[in-house]
Amino acid sequence: MTVPTHYSATQIVLHWAVAALVAAQYIFKDSIAAAWDAFRKGQTLPFDPLVLAHVVGGGLILAFVVWRLVLRLRRGAPPPPENEPTVLKSLAHMAHWAMYLVLAALSVTGLLAWFGGVTAAAQAHNLLKVVLLLLVAVHVLAVPFHLLILKNNVMQRMIRYAN
Ligand code: HEM
Ligand code: HEM
Repeated sequence: MTVPTHYSATQIVLHWAVAALVAAQYIFKDSIAAAWDAFRKGQTLPFDPLVLAHVVGGGLILAFVVWRLVLRLRRGAPPPPENEPTVLKSLAHMAHWAMYLVLAALSVTGLLAWFGGVTAAAQAHNLLKVVLLLLVAVHVLAVPFHLLILKNNVMQRMIRYAN
């Protein structure tokens, strides 16, 4: 496999689509939390489109994550910036794989809770949502860190593509 110089257009579109879908899962989380609470108490709630959106959005995230993983394994990713210290290269690599893993685990635990009524899966889902938030926070802070300290614009890597 030849190492690509850029992410492909598909990789970039999928990256931003997942980022937007994940943001929506957190912003509109109250409806699914209320629906789950009601389910646990044996109550029924009127139809709420935001509950459906959480379930469909989560399923879509899982599909996009699998697609991204296939692309990442088949096509690869551009090598990290040359001036990046080795330890940071390893950390970035681990953070990327951790995000894929946590996103997939969030979707699977969500599906198990919702369709299987598994309480332990809902508890894991609640824990994983915090882990993902921490990973994404570090991931986003890495952008200005690269720009200001290492003087390289990694943001360009997720904007400019080559197939
Ligand atoms: C839920 C939100 C996000 C997730 C789960 C996520 C996940 C990832 C993953 C897994 C990669 C590795 C590349 C790949 O395999 O496709 C990546 C790369 C990247 N992400 Fe994100 N990302 C998110 C949000 C953001 C945001 C908000 C920004 C910018 C403010 C950003 C900037 C970047 C950049 C610049 C790269 C390229 C890094 C490199 O190749 O060295 N990401 N992201
Ligand atoms: C990566 C995808 C997903 C993300 C980022 C995500 C995120 C979240 C967040 C932030 C909450 C709010 C918890 C709270 O603070 O009350 C939540 C709750 C919940 N989600 Fe997801 N979710 C995802 C996928 C799914 C899927 C696919 C399903 C079901 C098909 C699902 C079902 C649930 C359920 C049942 C709850 C309520 C759990 C509780 O309140 O204890 N989620 N999710």
